[in-house]
Amino acid sequence: MEEATKKEQNTKFEILPILRDRYSPRTFSSTPISETELRTLFEAGRWAPSSYNRQPWIVIWGIKGSKTYERIFNCLSNFNQSWANNAPVLLLNAYKKTTEEGKENFHALHDLGLFMGNITAQSQHLGIALHQMAGVKYQKAKKEFNFPEEYHVATAVALGYYGGDPQKLPEDLREEENPDNRTRLMQREFTFNGDFNNETGLYSSNQETVLTD
Ligand SMILES: Cc1cc2nc3c(=O)[nH]c(=O)nc-3n(C[C@H](O)[C@H](O)[C@H](O)COP(=O)(O)O)c2cc1C
Repeated sequence: MEEATKKEQNTKFEILPILRDRYSPRTFSSTPISETELRTLFEAGRWAPSSYNRQPWIVIWGIKGSKTYERIFNCLSNFNQSWANNAPVLLLNAYKKTTEEGKENFHALHDLGLFMGNITAQSQHLGIALHQMAGVKYQKAKKEFNFPEEYHVATAVALGYYGGDPQKLPEDLREEENPDNRTRLMQREFTFNGDFNNETGLYSSNQETVLTD
C-alpha cells in the first residue's frame, strides 16, 4: 500500500476545523465533565438521522467516581483498561438489533455511528475529546447492564477535555498521543467514480474524475 497520508499536511480540501482537529487521545484533562455537559452531547446525538427514524441507540453513562463508571470500566478489554481510567467519563453504546416487527434492523449499527458522529462533532466544538473503543467484553456488558436479548453492546467511549499528561500512559502508547502522527488512506483508495477497484491505490480504468492525489 502506498504510504498513508499524514493529517494536516495532506488535507488538500478545506474541511471544518472541528473535523480537521479532532483526534482520539488516551489522556485527558482533569477538568471534570458535568451532567449538563453530557446532556448537551446526548442532545446532539439525539438529533442524528436514522433509518425510519428508529433511533436504535442506547447509551449507559458514568462519571468518574461513580459505581456506573466502575461497572463500565470493568467491561473494557484489558488493553483499554490500561488507559481508559484517565477519562472523567465512560460511555457504553448499544443498539437495538430488531425493528418493531421483530425483523433484523440491518442499519442499526450505521445509525449508532451517526449518533456518535453527532456527539463527536458537538464534543469537538466544546473542546471535549472522545476515544471510542471496540475493545469491550460485550457479552459481559450486556449482562452487567441488564440489556434485553434484542440489544447488542457495540462500543465504549472514554471522554474528557483535551489535555493531560502523556507520561501517565504505558510507553508504547505515548507516541500515538501526537496528533501529527495520524494517518489516513488516500481518497483514491476508497472512492470510485465507477466500479469498485480492488487494486489499492490505483484508479479504476473507468474512473472519470480524479478527486485528489
Ligand atoms: C468504532 C471504533 C472502535 C475503536 N476501538 C478502539 C479500541 O478498542 N481501543 C483504542 O485504543 N482505540 C480504538 N479506536 C480508536 C481508533 O484507533 C482511532 O479512531 C483511529 O486510530 C484514528 O485515530 P484518530 O481518531 O485519532 O483520528 C476505535 C475507534 C472507533 C471509531
